[in-house]
Amino acid sequence: MERHRKLAAGNWKMNGLSDHLGEIAALIGSHGDATCEILICPPATLVAPMAAHAGSRIAVGGQDCHAEANGAHTGDISAEMLRDAGATYVITGHSERRADHGESDEAVRAKTEAGWKAGLVVILCIGETLDQREAGETLSVIDGQLAGSVPEGATGDNLVIAYEPVWAIGTGKVPSVEQIAEVHDHIRKTLSERFGTGTADAVRLLYGGSVKPGNASEIFAVDNVDGALVGGASLKADDFGGIISALEG
Ligand code: PGA
Repeated sequence: MERHRKLAAGNWKMNGLSDHLGEIAALIGSHGDATCEILICPPATLVAPMAAHAGSRIAVGGQDCHAEANGAHTGDISAEMLRDAGATYVITGHSERRADHGESDEAVRAKTEAGWKAGLVVILCIGETLDQREAGETLSVIDGQLAGSVPEGATGDNLVIAYEPVWAIGTGKVPSVEQIAEVHDHIRKTLSERFGTGTADAVRLLYGGSVKPGNASEIFAVDNVDGALVGGASLKADDFGGIISALEG
């Protein structure tokens, strides 16, 4: 199976009111004909209006979904609802959800399956804390998260893995290119042992954590990095545009 186009994914987190949709118009103006795939995951309130604005140029995704399609779960949103609002992607297992909402690997696995059932491509996030890295546990943490949260049935069409070291998110600290390469190579190898080389090669592996226009080229030059999951720098079309340009080489 052939790998998909490289992916520049923006995660707006809990940021953005309707007047922020102008950034999408600006992004389409500057990078609407980019050869890589562009995705924005806005807060749930903006999924439908953003999908209407973005047309086919920019994909829209959710930042989380419930494991069930519907039911008595006040405040939650299902993958089916995101799909209905125009999303084609959903993020699962972001470290902020694992930390703020106590999401376990089992929960992330169930949410990922729900995303697939609704026809969404899932960006599943994994990554170690600083304590785990300093204790030399990075690869074993990654192994545990991959084994626990990636369901059976993963393919290059339905799964993207984002490696996001928790200590690099929103901190301005970025791992060395050697550290990124080590983890990305390890993820590819682990996926290939479980799903076969064809599938493992087709799954896109994103790096996430303090990606900016100024460091993106260096990160994208690393083997087995197929794009980025970008938080803060995805909020402004100029910054995200710089990262997209770097991804296009
Ligand atoms: P950041 O966030 O780019 O602001 O570090 C990345 C993420 O959490 O996906």
